Amino acid sequence: MPRPSDELDRYDLTCHRLREALLGQLPASVDLVATVTAHAYWVCVAVSGDGTAWEEALRDYTALAQQRAAAEGEAERREIALLQQELAQTPGPVLDVGAGWGRLASLYESLALPAVYVEPAALGTQLMRRSGLNRVAQSVGEALPFADGPFSAAIIGWVLHHGAAPDVDAPAILIQAARVLAPGGKLLSIEPLGEKFSQTEWTSLLREAGFHVNRVEWFFTSESSPGATERYALAVGARCAD
Ligand SMILES: C[S@@+](CC[C@H](N)C(=O)[O-])C[C@H]1O[C@@H](n2cnc3c(N)ncnc32)[C@H](O)[C@@H]1O
Repeated sequence: MPRPSDELDRYDLTCHRLREALLGQLPASVDLVATVTAHAYWVCVAVSGDGTAWEEALRDYTALAQQRAAAEGEAERREIALLQQELAQTPGPVLDVGAGWGRLASLYESLALPAVYVEPAALGTQLMRRSGLNRVAQSVGEALPFADGPFSAAIIGWVLHHGAAPDVDAPAILIQAARVLAPGGKLLSIEPLGEKFSQTEWTSLLREAGFHVNRVEWFFTSESSPGATERYALAVGARCAD
C-alpha cells in the first residue's frame, strides 16, 4: 500500500506526462487542465505502481483523451447545466457519494451550497483535501458515516452502473442515500445507459431503495466505440416519506 505522499506524487507525475502528451493535440474547445485532471485520476485508479502497466495505461488514456475529450467536454457542460438547475433551490447540505477527485466542487461553490464528499479511494480523498475541501470522508457509499436525515440532496454520479463490480453494491448505496436524506430530499443520479445498464434496471433500483423518480433526462449520446452507443442520463428523484 503506497504512503499517501507516494500516491499524490504518482498522480502529479501522471498529470505531467499527460499534459506533455496532450499539449497542442486537443481541439480548442477542450479544457486541457480538466482533461488532464480526470484522465490522470483514471490512470492512477486503474493501475497501482509506475511500471509497464502504468506506461500502458498512460498511452491508452492519452489516446482516449485525443479521441473523446471534445465530446466528453460537451457532455459535461450539459450535465453541469442540468445539475445547476436542480440544485439552485436546494438549501443544502448536499452529499456527493463517490465524489472522485471533487469534480463537482466548483459547481457547489458557485451556488454557495455546503457540500460533503464521500469517496472510498484514498487518492480521491487526498486530492480533494489538497484542493482545500475539508468536509471529505473516506468511505464506501454502502456504509455512509452519517446520522439519518441531515442532507437535503444527494448526488451519485457515474457510480451505480459499476454494479457488476464486486466493490459496488448499488442497492445498498441507494438505501444508504435514502437513509441520510431528509424526507422529500432530492436524489440526483447520473449514469451512462446502454446494453450493460438499462434505464429500467436503473430506475427500478432507485424505486426499490425508496425514491420516487420524478423524471429522467437524457442529455448526451456517446459513441464510445463503433456500434456501441451510450446515453448519458440524469434521474431526479425524491426520498419518499417514511
Ligand atoms: C467514474 S468515478 C465518478 C466520480 C464522480 N462522481 C464524478 O462524477 O466525477 C466513480 C467513483 O466512484 C467511486 N466508488 C467506487 N466504489 C464505490 C463505492 N462502493 N461507494 C462509493 N463510491 C465508490 C470510485 O472510487 C470513483 O471515484
